[in-house]
Amino acid sequence: MPRDAVPQPVRLSDYRPPDWLVDTVHLDVRLHPTATRILARLALRPNPEGREGSPIVLDGDELSLKSIALDGTPLAGSAYVTTAGTLTVLAPPQRALTLEIETVVDPSANTKLMGLYRSSGAYCTQCEAEGFRRITYFPDRPDVLAVYTTRIEAEREEAPVLLANGNPVESGAVEGTSRHYAIWHDPWPKPSYLFALVGGRLDRITDHFVTATGKKVELGIYVEPGKTERAGYAMDALKRSMRWDEEVFGCEYDLDVFNIVAVADFNMGAMENKGLNIFNDKYVLASPETATDADYANIEGIIAHEYFHNWTGNRITCRDWFQLCLKEGLTVFRDQEFSSDQRSRPVKRISDVRLLKGHQFPEDAGPLAHPVRPSTYREINNFYTATVYEKGAEVVRMLKTLLGEEGFRAGMDLYFDRHDGDAATVEDFLACFADANGIDLTQFALWYAQSGTPHLAVSGHWDAQARTYRLDVVQTLPPTPGQPEKQPMVIPLALGLVGPDGNDLPMRLDDGTNAERGVLLVTRPRQSFVFRDVAERPVASLNRGFSAPVKLTSDLTTQDLVFLARHDADPFNRFDAAQTIALAHLVEATAARRTGRDLPSPAALVEALGATLSDATLDPAFIAQALSVPSESDVAREIADDVDPDAIHDARQALRRALSAALRPALEGAYDRHAPTGAYAPDAASAGRRALRNACLDLLAAGGTAPGLARALAHFRDADNMTDRFLALSVLAHNAPDAREEALAAFYERFRDDPLVVDKWLALQAQIAEPGTLERVRGLTGHPAFSWGNPNRVRSLVGSFAGANQTQFNRADGAGHDFVADAVLELDGRNPQVAARLLAAFKSWRSLEPGRRASAERALRRVAAKPGLSPDVGDIVSRSLE
Ligand code: PHE
Ligand code: ZN
Repeated sequence: MPRDAVPQPVRLSDYRPPDWLVDTVHLDVRLHPTATRILARLALRPNPEGREGSPIVLDGDELSLKSIALDGTPLAGSAYVTTAGTLTVLAPPQRALTLEIETVVDPSANTKLMGLYRSSGAYCTQCEAEGFRRITYFPDRPDVLAVYTTRIEAEREEAPVLLANGNPVESGAVEGTSRHYAIWHDPWPKPSYLFALVGGRLDRITDHFVTATGKKVELGIYVEPGKTERAGYAMDALKRSMRWDEEVFGCEYDLDVFNIVAVADFNMGAMENKGLNIFNDKYVLASPETATDADYANIEGIIAHEYFHNWTGNRITCRDWFQLCLKEGLTVFRDQEFSSDQRSRPVKRISDVRLLKGHQFPEDAGPLAHPVRPSTYREINNFYTATVYEKGAEVVRMLKTLLGEEGFRAGMDLYFDRHDGDAATVEDFLACFADANGIDLTQFALWYAQSGTPHLAVSGHWDAQARTYRLDVVQTLPPTPGQPEKQPMVIPLALGLVGPDGNDLPMRLDDGTNAERGVLLVTRPRQSFVFRDVAERPVASLNRGFSAPVKLTSDLTTQDLVFLARHDADPFNRFDAAQTIALAHLVEATAARRTGRDLPSPAALVEALGATLSDATLDPAFIAQALSVPSESDVAREIADDVDPDAIHDARQALRRALSAALRPALEGAYDRHAPTGAYAPDAASAGRRALRNACLDLLAAGGTAPGLARALAHFRDADNMTDRFLALSVLAHNAPDAREEALAAFYERFRDDPLVVDKWLALQAQIAEPGTLERVRGLTGHPAFSWGNPNRVRSLVGSFAGANQTQFNRADGAGHDFVADAVLELDGRNPQVAARLLAAFKSWRSLEPGRRASAERALRRVAAKPGLSPDVGDIVSRSLE
């Protein structure tokens, strides 16, 4: 591998406090399309905790330095040195001093979308994790907190709107010119990664919020001209988030204004810059005609997430990037709780666990596995992962399960109290929960340090005579990259013992204690728990609510699972019982496919789902979840090695056809009963009805039966909202090769001017499980609606192909792997972050059958051999091959 491709690792154990601190930053930014000039005035002082006598080392990336002065005097050329990544002031006086640095950058040439760049003509910034150094020279690390004042100047014509962090101070014309300016001041010390500015021709909607202590906050959402009608839902979600954070966590907003800007070109979902969140417009813009219920739910969740960062991330930030989960895992947990309170808690939990299993479990089982808090990285951009975010949230959720509602809140209160204004660590966080509750969390902390998904094997033994029920639990944690040996974890195992009548039996352990809040603490490799006074054989409902992010196997029989699917008081496990039956069926059916044996009978699943479908007490959204059988990648993960994606696909299709046939009357009945009753509304109850109706349609049309397709065509024709229209389109695209092209063409004609809807159209086509799809996707890369420059387009087309089309990405002839490798190389020169994410689609390559594994390896080696790879792609490819 070329040397430049693999940067030197950064290690957590090497952390040292900064040698110089920055108290204030004054920026004067003169916006210009190709030569924006940034004048930075930094008030620096030596850090008493740093090394005495240190030079001032500032980070910089692709900057053109125009001038530098110390306390008003230009620095002589011999007084400083620059390298590709740094500017060092040699032998500075060891006292408080001022540096004035003038740099010039070209925002129009910035295709990495890090630092200052342009999106649809507007100027915007992205600084997390290390983008501020692409604007000016700075100690660009999160433990340097400063107070920022930002003056932005631009042509009034080009950029009538000028925004930055904090509160507006002043604005006006630049006398005698066509330019104007605005000054913003952010009183809260913050790390450079939270800096942002925006300049452009934008429309806005406004509103206000009155905080718990009566302070009025002006709210603004800025969008591309003409799109304000689509910002209303985001504003509503913002106000609900602000209220919720006061009520649930006691967190009040702390500036006079809160602004959100939606841009079309963005590497990630959104960014929590202080007082000025910048969003991928996909997570702001919604109307019934253009957004699905899932889009609405995502917008609500992400608006909340970025807002919640104001306390968990901004007021308390991270000491270094190893602590990323300190803000991300915690903030994901908070946004999950918010959405649970706004919608259905069980359904939210089910979809969160689906996401975790679908993305994080495979990551944890492959070559890219890493701890929630990594101890080393070569490129921090590659650690914005499902493990840091989703598993990080699970770890916080486990804390809450262990401590209970009040103990958890006490820990959070102490955290806000003790660390407000700090750049903190995971240890700081855990100490708050330990101190507030008087407990020891040393073993629990292993969740942050050990990677891999723990496995729990559980077996139950009822003794009729002794009236006892014993659970034997064996805990194992597989080896992962860099961690051959593991220590046992603390696993909070929520459970219930379900009696023959379907009700929970009282749980009393033989030591006389009750399993507190229904949770057993598994802390050792092997452990037994004995319950007394158990008069009847119970069925154990294990890991209720998915209390721990583990892979659990048990000795429950299929009949036990059918029983739980009908009766479990825990809705998550009711869902999970049926999924477990389906997964076992699919694993067996896949093996049968490959060896030419007869397929197993789906009778048990039919029974479980039939009961679910006809249970009028259940939430429609819940039933919809139950009807959706495990995905192809769920099955691949369960099989774990020698995976043949075609066999999995065939087995899954056969199961869906069988369910369709066996449940037809019930599915048709539910479809008809959940017809729309009024105009579209995005609320959870209405969305739940649509979800159920659409899940029924999806199954009814499985395999392309004539009545199912007729229904789908009518559904497509009659739809008055994007949820229904797009579901019908996908049903047709996947199951009706004859009706597909016409429907796709009609959809494109209708929405061709709407890039976010065109993304759906691209993604759908990339997911069709047919050999023709690769050619179709290749063709679409030349379609006028596609662009390699826009991350949303690339993710929709190429990302969906690589990440959501198991059979075609993993084609037996290797053409799918080659195509994605080529796309990664094509993109790397332009946008390394997006390229590296795409390459991570290879994360499960080692579990493929030998032929496909060889083709994946060839593709990866070809990427690795390319000279001049970015650090982002170089890091992913080298870890993938390790
Ligand atoms: N911090 C953002 C979030 O999760 C994610 C992000 C990371 C955005 C890096 C841009 C760049 O809320
Ligand atoms: Zn976040």
